[in-house]
Amino acid sequence: KKSEFFKVVEVGPRDGLQNEKVFVPTEVKVELIDRLSDCNFKVVESTSFVSPKWIPQMRDQVEVINGIKKKSSVSYPVLVPNLAGLKNALATGSVEEIAVFGAASDSFSKKNVNANVEESLQKLCDVTSAALKEGIRVRGYVSCVVGCPYEGNIKPDIVAKVTEKLLEVGCYEVSLGDTIGVGTPGSVGKMLETVLKSAPAEKLAVHFHDTYGQALANVLVSIEKGIRVADSSLSGLGGCPYAKGATGNLATEDLLYMLDGLGFDTGVDLKEVIKTANWFNEKMGRTVKSRVGAAYKL
Ligand code: HMG
Ligand code: MG
Repeated sequence: KKSEFFKVVEVGPRDGLQNEKVFVPTEVKVELIDRLSDCNFKVVESTSFVSPKWIPQMRDQVEVINGIKKKSSVSYPVLVPNLAGLKNALATGSVEEIAVFGAASDSFSKKNVNANVEESLQKLCDVTSAALKEGIRVRGYVSCVVGCPYEGNIKPDIVAKVTEKLLEVGCYEVSLGDTIGVGTPGSVGKMLETVLKSAPAEKLAVHFHDTYGQALANVLVSIEKGIRVADSSLSGLGGCPYAKGATGNLATEDLLYMLDGLGFDTGVDLKEVIKTANWFNEKMGRTVKSRVGAAYKL
C-alpha cells in the first residue's frame, strides 16, 4: 500500500532567520536554501519583501531570491505585506509564489504590520488579488490562532473568520500559526473544530512554534482532524520579533521523524536535513536544537 503524502513546508530561511540578531551573510542564506532544495522539500519559504526598517535581517531579499538555484520541483514563496512588497517581488522576475500574513488579534497585528485585523485583511485581499492577476500563487497565514502576546487567549471564531476571508479571496492554502507557541492539543483541537466548520482540511496547514514544547502534540491533533500540511524550521530556528519570548518553530527534524513513524510519505531526506542543520549551526556558532538531530546516528 502506498503511504499517504504529507507536505512539510520548510520555513527556516524566513521564519527561522527573521529574528536573528546577527546578520546572516547573504551567501549563507543562499547556500542554506540550496541545501534545503536538495533535501527534497516541496516548499522552502525563502525570504520576506517587508520593510528593512522593521525586519533588517531580510533586507537582502532580492540577492537571496536571485542567488538561489531553483529546482522545478520546489516552490520558493516569499512573504509580502503590501502592494509595495509585491511590486518589489515581481520586479525580480523570479517569484512565483507569495505568502500574505494576517492575524486574529488586533494588538499583535498593529505591532507586526501597523494595522488592525480589519485594515490588514483589506491590504492582504488587495495584495492577493493583484498577485493572482499576475499568475502568482498565494498562501495565507493567520497568526495568534490560539494566543496573543498582548491579548491572551484568542476566540476561535475570529480565526475562522480571517481564514474564510483568505480562502475566499483566493489563497490556495491557509496556514494557522500559533505564533507564540502557547497552544496545547486542547486549545488547538478546539480552534481547529471551529475553523473546520467553514474551511476544508485540504486547504489548511498548521504552523507551530515550540515555546512550551507542545508543537509535535499539536501537529498530531491536527492530523487527527484531517490536516496534511505542517510548517517547520530546521533545527527549530526562529521566532517572531513582535512576539516577545516566543521561541523557534517546531524543528523539521523532529516533525519528519514523527511523520515517518506514523507511516506518512514526506519525500524529504531526514539525513540531509540533519546534515544541513549541522552545517548551518556550525557556520553560525550555535548548537543543535532538535531532539532528533541530537540523537540520530548519521
Ligand atoms: P509602515 O511603516 O506602516 O509602512 O509599515 P508605510 O507604508 O507607512 O511605509 C513606511 C516606510 O516603509 C516607507 O519608507 C516605505 O517605502 C517602506 P520611507 O518612506 O520611510 O523610507 N516600505 C517598504 N519597504 C520595503 N518593502 C516593503 C515596504 N512597505 C513599506 N514591502 C509594513 C508597514 C507592513 C511595511 C511593516 O510593518 C512591515 O514590514 N512589517 C513586517 C513585519 C514582519 O515581517 N513580521 C514577521 C513576519 S509575520 C510572522 O513571523 C508570523 C508567521 O510566521 C506566522 C506565525 O508564526 O503565526 C508568518
Ligand atoms: Mg511563525
